[in-house]
Amino acid sequence: MALRGITKRFPGVVANDDINIEVQRGTVHAIVGENGAGKSTLMKILYGMQRPDAGTIEVDGATVHFGSPQQAIKAGIGMVHQHFMLADNLTVTENVVLGAERLCGIGARARRRILEISESYGLGIQPDRLVEDLGVGDRQRVEILKVLYRGAKILILDEPTAVLVPQEVDELFGNLRDLKAEGLTVIFISHKLDEVLAVADEITVVRRGTTVRTVKPSEVTSRQLAELMVGSELPVPQLRTDAVTDKVELSVTDLTVPSEHGRPAVDGVSFEIHRGEILGIAGVEGNGQAELVEALMGMRPSTGVVRLGHGDISDWDTRQRRTAGIGYIPEDRHRHGLLLESPLWENRILGHQNQKPNISGPWIDRAGARADTERIVAEYDVRTPGIDVAAASLSGGNQQKLIVGREMSHQPRVLIASHPTRGVDVGAQAAIWEHLRRARTAGLAVLLISADLDELIGMSDTLRVILRGRIVATVDPATVTPEELGSAMTGATDDAPTEPAGGDSADRSS
Ligand SMILES: Nc1ncnc2c1ncn2[C@@H]1O[C@H](COP(=O)(O)OP(=O)(O)OP(=O)(O)O)[C@@H](O)[C@H]1O
Ligand SMILES: [Mg+2]
Repeated sequence: MALRGITKRFPGVVANDDINIEVQRGTVHAIVGENGAGKSTLMKILYGMQRPDAGTIEVDGATVHFGSPQQAIKAGIGMVHQHFMLADNLTVTENVVLGAERLCGIGARARRRILEISESYGLGIQPDRLVEDLGVGDRQRVEILKVLYRGAKILILDEPTAVLVPQEVDELFGNLRDLKAEGLTVIFISHKLDEVLAVADEITVVRRGTTVRTVKPSEVTSRQLAELMVGSELPVPQLRTDAVTDKVELSVTDLTVPSEHGRPAVDGVSFEIHRGEILGIAGVEGNGQAELVEALMGMRPSTGVVRLGHGDISDWDTRQRRTAGIGYIPEDRHRHGLLLESPLWENRILGHQNQKPNISGPWIDRAGARADTERIVAEYDVRTPGIDVAAASLSGGNQQKLIVGREMSHQPRVLIASHPTRGVDVGAQAAIWEHLRRARTAGLAVLLISADLDELIGMSDTLRVILRGRIVATVDPATVTPEELGSAMTGATDDAPTEPAGGDSADRSS
């Protein structure tokens, strides 16, 4: 498969500028590059979702033109999107055959075919389970199977590991090796350069829309790869400084969030966060983190007591909590973080409609909001042609930088940060960490939820593990390894050096 001279322009931006990549059959080919470098655009072109302004795609030596994903699928190209697109209330089989009924029907024949594929690539799929009962790693395998079921020979995976714990990443990489052994080709996008080096046969670096170089993992270190992406040397990251004080900024007692199916989503959780402290919460996705965060933001009914400083805010709504100084970086930036169709400067106002610099007296202060948006764009290196473009047109990582910049600009007392660097490149990640550390040293209390265990271990002063809605362990971020933390998160705590959380008495141990 080859991409030759691919060029794609958007208003004010050249997203792809003469991209050239040759991908050998039966290999894993990684594409890396900074946020906004043009990776997703390129994959959308290859998958027929967007038309290039110039350039050609070759599959098996023949030039192809895709007017739609259906045509790409026919040519054997499949894409697994970062946001899973499965229907929760259907079984695995139903999800896989949906839209591809003509292949093997929807009955026993389809089910047999699914088992066949699952077996030949070692996917371990159980065709009759409901998708809602599956973990993230399994869902991803269903997505992959769905693509294989449609006859894909070339698989595109756009940031597939962002939501996986290390054990799941290892499993995924095992699956990719099996696919490769069967002659399939995988194109893989990731910001986690160590993973890229571990799994790829070749790596193409894209910088500002152009292909810089294609290398083999044996030829580069992850640092060199990062420098190829950025085009200059990276600063050496700062070491942790100890800023934790004994003043409690946020205290949560016996917080419980009911759920529709019996067992509460958050079950009697208690903790304290001090001024200058980052409390990390580790857990496999779907163990109550999302509900915990939404309850803390007043977006979801809960019982228990939440105190900000000395005041009980349990009954406050979201607006009151924000105004009192709780910043919020939401997990799902499309649902809660941004108005995608609105320009960047209006997104700057979102959630802070009643605060400076967005208002002057009772009125919205357009000039104030616009000037501050320019500042955020510069300070957080949001790559955009301007502050009047719609948020939807920013690349994933640049949308994230905009949200982080907005939430930090109100100098919150407490920051609830869900996956603050998900999807951002290594350089931007280091910059966001630096911003968070500096604010922490100045007294900010942070609740950090992340699937990136290196981030949790590197940033947290205190680290707890959540499992089925309960805090089940407290681990020492100074000594725990990502593998040990991963085991604690799945409940396999035997070999991990964890101490039981022991109710709220453990809150004072730090
Ligand atoms: N639909 C669109 N309209 C306008 N501009 C767009 C559109 N899609 C992408 N862009 C711009 O094209 C450039 C490349 O974006 P793309 O999403 O391909 O980056 P990326 O490499 O995938 O980045 P990330 O790592 O953040 O996901 C960016 O400057 C982005 O703002
Ligand atoms: Mg992208």
